Amino acid sequence: MREMRKFPEGFVWGTATASYQVEGAAREGGRGRSIWDTFSHTPGKVAEGHTGDVACDHYHRYQDDVRLMKELGISSYRFSIAWPRVMPEKGRVWVKGLDFYKRLATALLEHGIRPAATMYHWDLPQWMEDEGGWNSRETVSRFLEYSEILFRELGDLVPMWITHNEPWCASILGYGIGVHAPGLKDWRRAYRAAHHLLLSHGQAVRLYRELGLPGEIGITLNLTPVYAATPNPEDLAAADRQDMFQNRWFLDPVLRGEYPEELLHRVDQVVGGFDAVKPGDLDVIATPIDFLGVNYYTRAVVADDPSEPLLSVRHVPGEGPRTEMDWEVYPDGLYDLLSRLRRDYGDIPIYITENGAAFDDRVQDGGVHDADRVAYLAGHFAAAHRFLEEGGNLRGYYVWSLMDNFEWAFGYTKRFGIVYVDYDTLARIPKDSYFWYQRVIREGGLVPAEPAETAR
Ligand code: FCB
Repeated sequence: MREMRKFPEGFVWGTATASYQVEGAAREGGRGRSIWDTFSHTPGKVAEGHTGDVACDHYHRYQDDVRLMKELGISSYRFSIAWPRVMPEKGRVWVKGLDFYKRLATALLEHGIRPAATMYHWDLPQWMEDEGGWNSRETVSRFLEYSEILFRELGDLVPMWITHNEPWCASILGYGIGVHAPGLKDWRRAYRAAHHLLLSHGQAVRLYRELGLPGEIGITLNLTPVYAATPNPEDLAAADRQDMFQNRWFLDPVLRGEYPEELLHRVDQVVGGFDAVKPGDLDVIATPIDFLGVNYYTRAVVADDPSEPLLSVRHVPGEGPRTEMDWEVYPDGLYDLLSRLRRDYGDIPIYITENGAAFDDRVQDGGVHDADRVAYLAGHFAAAHRFLEEGGNLRGYYVWSLMDNFEWAFGYTKRFGIVYVDYDTLARIPKDSYFWYQRVIREGGLVPAEPAETAR
């Protein structure tokens, strides 16, 4: 039998959540409305009419949740800060809205858990959206004001900052495809939103440096390695276009200070000009970061399809097993992605800021026997380990998610947690994957699943 695959000393094991998905208390503490309140309360937008009004009630139950984290043994917790708690309405800055995060970060530190705060995980204050949202350059200035408040108020409690979570989703899904808030279907706005999100990232990093804060700051991108359906040159070219759209669009400006040429050309064709970019913007966007956050869930397989207007690309299902999200389970994709980042963008420190899976979990005899999730995580941890063995600069791994939560347009119908949430009572029930992860952390390496963790 192969020896246990050990992770390096000091490797950061964590779990991740996001404000709108777990906090609830949507009308408490002076919080204003966000675009996700509006979207989820609009009939037909979210499965079964679910909203984040109560969510997991993390806002009130955070102490119990921190205890669960402590027992799990994680060394870091990634959460996000709700912007509408700090800028609830036009012209009003509500610093007390940060009290919850001060209490949370303090509780984490008391338990030896390093707070990692995402500054924007999609809950834009509604009043800003009413003034153009990410389509407007004004929002970039507001994000800078918000950043300054966060750094000054929480800088001594939070040693790790993530400016944005998945700007690809915030712009493309929110403004282009319309399946996320604010629900617009306008490619011109989507391209502008993407640029403004990136610009606000760069400005926040600059400010962080100017303030001389001692922690680290980076950005989290959702990256999806792309494979051609066949080795034909047409399909290989299609894979390259999809990769540009999905990955390089964000990687290149942040890490190289340029947009892919082909992207500018395509944008020109589809919406008539990438007019949001002003001189100097790319220098700001490329302000050096301390780490890159990578969210990885699955891969894409594509074929050439001239009938598709945006990229001439058609998605083809991969042959691996699938999760409840209908996403293919493909751990090798994580290894390929990490290796590619290293090859094309250099040895920048990387954290996997999200990885996990939704399955159809049921409570049985007081437990949740989520063998599929254990297998999913074990496969992906092994892929990460392989990258580390080859000298890759991977610093940590945050499992998505600590607990089941509001899965955006899917509401509470998809469960990603390693802790089960009973939405009637809000009780937390650690799943088998929680206990398996606990052993991985304790042993510092990939332990096999125990019978209880494989039985279903
Ligand atoms: C990511 C999001 C996160 C969660 C997972 C499943 O795209 O960042 O909030 O919903 O997907």
